[in-house]
Amino acid sequence: MPLGTVPLSARVSSLLGFADTERRTAASYERELAEHRVTESELRKAVARDEVLLRQKDNSIRQQKMLTEECHHRLLNNLQMIVALLSLQSRREANAEAASRLSIAADRVQAIAGLHHHLHSMDGTPTVDFKPYLDRLCRDHSTMSMSEERPDQFLVVEAIELRLPTTIGIPLSLIVNELITNALKHGKGRITVTLAPAGKGHALSVSNDGSELPEGFDPRACKGLGMSLVSSLAEQIGGELRIDRGDAGDCTRFSVLFA
Ligand SMILES: Nc1ncnc2c1ncn2[C@@H]1O[C@H](COP(=O)(O)OP(=O)(O)OP(=O)(O)O)[C@@H](O)[C@H]1O
Ligand SMILES: [Mg+2]
Repeated sequence: MPLGTVPLSARVSSLLGFADTERRTAASYERELAEHRVTESELRKAVARDEVLLRQKDNSIRQQKMLTEECHHRLLNNLQMIVALLSLQSRREANAEAASRLSIAADRVQAIAGLHHHLHSMDGTPTVDFKPYLDRLCRDHSTMSMSEERPDQFLVVEAIELRLPTTIGIPLSLIVNELITNALKHGKGRITVTLAPAGKGHALSVSNDGSELPEGFDPRACKGLGMSLVSSLAEQIGGELRIDRGDAGDCTRFSVLFA
């Protein structure tokens, strides 16, 4: 090739002693480096954007926790206020029967408040550890209901550790509250609260000595509210209510079998 037809850059390189391949590599490195710089700057911008988003997410989680906490406190305060109002009205009521009804209503609301307190202590999980709840409920009943007039009565809990979904735990807690209240009110002697495996599921029972139930006892036909509540809540959780009437002096047992 005559010298005039060779490109100037090639002629300069050949004069300086660079090979063609070395020249191409140096140029491609420059290009690659430039591309990397662009990528790096884009990545830095993306990381900065993600950091802002993460901070926003942290803030909204904190706000949500504060709101949940606030709602919980308001719920408990309102329930306690209802308990206090019902108790006050019960104490001021001249009619003994009405006073007792108001006091029972206060105990029912108190049981619901106790359960919410227990659920909250479990940090918002959708399950409830039922044994500690039962222990606490029975302790509360012992303190509230055991009186000097009934020195024969005492409560015993025989329960396995069992974690239940709240959809079952909440109705079950109301059921057991009614059954314990009834055992204290209508029974005598030892009251045993049992939670144990039964068949493919579990059984929650409350038994007490004395006061056998009348023959043909129908929980849905009772005048009181307690047994109707127990029946419909047992149905709500797909459970079965079993009643052992007990013989004279022997124990009466109410059990709810659930899966
Ligand atoms: N553990 C028990 N031992 C003996 N009898 C019971 C027992 N539980 C319930 N009964 C009988 O069943 C009836 C109906 O109970 P229920 O809980 O529905 O009404 P209550 O306790 O009388 O009133 P309330 O629950 O509305 O305060 C009671 O009045 C009582 O005669
Ligand atoms: Mg009752």
